[in-house]
Amino acid sequence: MAPRKIIIDTDPGQDDAVAILMALASPDELEVLGITAVAGNVPLPLTQKNARIVLELAGRTDIPVFAGCDAPMKRPLVTAEHVHGKTGLDGPSLPDPTMPLQDKHGVDFIIETLRSEPPGTVTLCPLGPLTNIATAFATAPDIVDRVQQIVLMGGAYFEVGNITPAAEFNIYVDPEAAAIVFESGIDIVVLPLDVTHKALVTGPRNIAFRALGTPAGEAVAAMTDFFERFDKEKYGSDGAPLHDPCVTAYLLKPELFSGRHINVEIETVSELTLGMTVADWWGITDRAKNATFIGDLDADGFFALLTERLGRL
Ligand code: RIB
Ligand code: CA
Repeated sequence: MAPRKIIIDTDPGQDDAVAILMALASPDELEVLGITAVAGNVPLPLTQKNARIVLELAGRTDIPVFAGCDAPMKRPLVTAEHVHGKTGLDGPSLPDPTMPLQDKHGVDFIIETLRSEPPGTVTLCPLGPLTNIATAFATAPDIVDRVQQIVLMGGAYFEVGNITPAAEFNIYVDPEAAAIVFESGIDIVVLPLDVTHKALVTGPRNIAFRALGTPAGEAVAAMTDFFERFDKEKYGSDGAPLHDPCVTAYLLKPELFSGRHINVEIETVSELTLGMTVADWWGITDRAKNATFIGDLDADGFFALLTERLGRL
C-alpha cells in the first residue's frame, strides 16, 4: 500500500521534534510532503529553524520546510519558553541548520498542496496552534473538502488545562483558529492532554532512547530530560508527556488508542475559559458530533513503537 501523504504543521518544541522524527522514521507508512512551521511554543523564527534542525538530525533535508503565520489570527502570541526553553529545543546541543527555508509561505504550501493532490489523499497533522490551518481554510475555502483527515494534538477535558485552569496551550494560543477547524466538517481526530498525559517518558523509557546509541536516540533523551521538569513540578508526573508524538503514533497504529466520536466546541468569548475544548463526552447535548476525542492509549505499546522507529534513524 502506498504511504499516507501528510503535512506536519508544527511549533517545535521538543515533543514536536520527537513526533517529526517518528514520522520520518516511517517512510513505508507516511510520506511527509512538507513541514509548515507556526508560532507557538516559541516565535516563528525559532520554530522554522527548529524544524530544519530536526530534519537535518534525521538526514531528511529533502523535505521542504515553510514558515507560516507568526501570530494568532486575532490575538497576540502567547509562547511557552517556560516549558521548552528559550530556543524551544533546549536539551540537546544540535548544530544550526544549513538547509534552506522555503520562500513560499506555509499557508500557501498547504493550499497549493491540497489543490494539486487528488481530493481526500492528504492528511493534516497540526502539532501546535491551528493558525496556519485555519488561515488556509479562510483564504481558500475550496480546500476544506479536499482534506482526507486532520489528526491533531490539542485540547483537554478530564485533564483540564495546562496553560490556564481551563485550556490546553495549542487551542488557547489561537482559539478562533481552533473554532474554524472544529467547525470545518472535516474528519478530525483529537489527541488531547487526557491521553498525552499518559504517554510519560519514565526513567526506563528515557534509558531505552539513549541505549539506541544513535544521534537521534541521544537527542530525544536529552530533549525529554529537559522538558520533563515543567510537568514533574506541576503535576508530579513520572516523566515528560510526549504530547505531539501521539499524533504520529495514531497514524501508524491507531489500535494503540481509544476514544469517542463526540461534539467538541471551542470557547472563544469568555476570558475565564478561553480556549477550552468543551467535549460532550457523555452525550448530554444534541450538538453535532464533529471529532474523535481520544482518552486513552496503550503506553507500553506506544513507547515500544516510538523506540523501535527512532532506532531506524
Ligand atoms: O499543550 C501541549 C502542546 O503545546 C504540545 O503541542 C506542545 O508542543 C505545545 O505546542
Ligand atoms: Ca507542539
